[in-house]
Amino acid sequence: MQALPGFRDFLPDDCARRNYTFARWRGVARRYGFVEWEGPPLEATDLYKKKSGAEIVEQLFNFTDKGEREVALRPELTPTLARVVAAHERKFKKPLKWFSIGQFFRYEKQQRGRLREHFQLNCDIVGETDLAADVELVALCIDILRAFGFTEKDFVVRISDREFWTDFFRDKKVPAERWDGLLQAIDKSAREPREKTAEKLGDLAGAVFAALKSGGESAKLGQLVEGLRARGLADFVAVDVGIVRGLAYYTGIVFEVFDRGGKFRAVAGGGRYDNLIGQLSDGAVSMPALGFAMGDVVLGELINEIPRASEAMQKTISNDSKIDVYIIIAKEQRRADALAQIQQLRDRGYRIDYPLTPTRVARQFQAAEELGARLALLYGDEWPQVKVKNMKTGEQELVAHDRLLAHLQAQSSLSS
Ligand code: HAM
Repeated sequence: MQALPGFRDFLPDDCARRNYTFARWRGVARRYGFVEWEGPPLEATDLYKKKSGAEIVEQLFNFTDKGEREVALRPELTPTLARVVAAHERKFKKPLKWFSIGQFFRYEKQQRGRLREHFQLNCDIVGETDLAADVELVALCIDILRAFGFTEKDFVVRISDREFWTDFFRDKKVPAERWDGLLQAIDKSAREPREKTAEKLGDLAGAVFAALKSGGESAKLGQLVEGLRARGLADFVAVDVGIVRGLAYYTGIVFEVFDRGGKFRAVAGGGRYDNLIGQLSDGAVSMPALGFAMGDVVLGELINEIPRASEAMQKTISNDSKIDVYIIIAKEQRRADALAQIQQLRDRGYRIDYPLTPTRVARQFQAAEELGARLALLYGDEWPQVKVKNMKTGEQELVAHDRLLAHLQAQSSLSS
């Protein structure tokens, strides 16, 4: 039996990497004053049909449940956020600054950087129209990646504004029904042959290609870059109107994060979706919103690619996985005494391991070393004294068993 295509097994090392990622996501989001929330993994299929756009609806893992409901595993969090905010917004002061970490499912063709499940960090600000919120959100996205050890040499946030294109279409008198299709064609233009994009753009192809080539600019994008410059973060961003995003609900500033080497798919993406909450609540609650999501798959590839980031991760993981104390039971008669002490030490928060069954002393010391124990406590002939061995220096001392806890506490307060 194997896992389904596009689904991963998380062995202990993979879980350690995942926890490392989640800790950085959570830590920086909290530094920015975001609070954590979560939605359900299964939603009504209609939630995505209404506004996410054709591409995501094609990728749904959906089925009819036993109550004849049409349901789907969530492919993204934004529609759930809009639904939850519309139902509960009265309970919270605006703007809301919410983050969430969870697993998402898309029936995509499995390829590098794209699986059928992945984890995302979502960060969203709800109830603020001012550009200050867009600056804050992009800064948060940059600082999260900096927390992994990446610099402006490793990644770039390409920022754009959908209004640049809607103004452009208005100017060229393009009927509004064509806008969505045109935006999708522009979104795919960097990944598709020029002729295919030209065909989709029709009479507008020449003008669109010219705008893409010139890079495009707008007062709003200029202000956004200046806001980031004031924080010393301007080197992390580039204006690129070729970014319009695949999801249908975006209304203003949009952005995507790529590795500088151009090897991988986007690490993160997001933008403003000022109409989604209103549309999903049939006008009951109307609130501007903006946010982004960062996925763990491409991020993991980028960590592997950049030695600074992978070394920082390995160091943290290896420190986190170490135990404090390994208990060596040299005489089986002492097992009950050792277990009483293990319980006491674990209650105080020490990380303790010991052999479950009788084991040669040499093997026990080997286990202590492999588990990264700082100390080994030996329960044997010395009882009622316990031999305390510093695993790093090899120094040993005898400590009376009823003084052991005080002894360990004094040692760790010295080292900290
Ligand atoms: P998205 O661009 O569809 O945006 O996904 C965000 C990130 O999730 C991508 O940049 C990528 O790293 C990761 N991702 C997406 N699909 C896959 C996949 N099949 N395999 C691996 N990683 C994947 C959204 O989902 C929006 N809801 C983001 C947002 C939040 N907008 C506003 N708030």
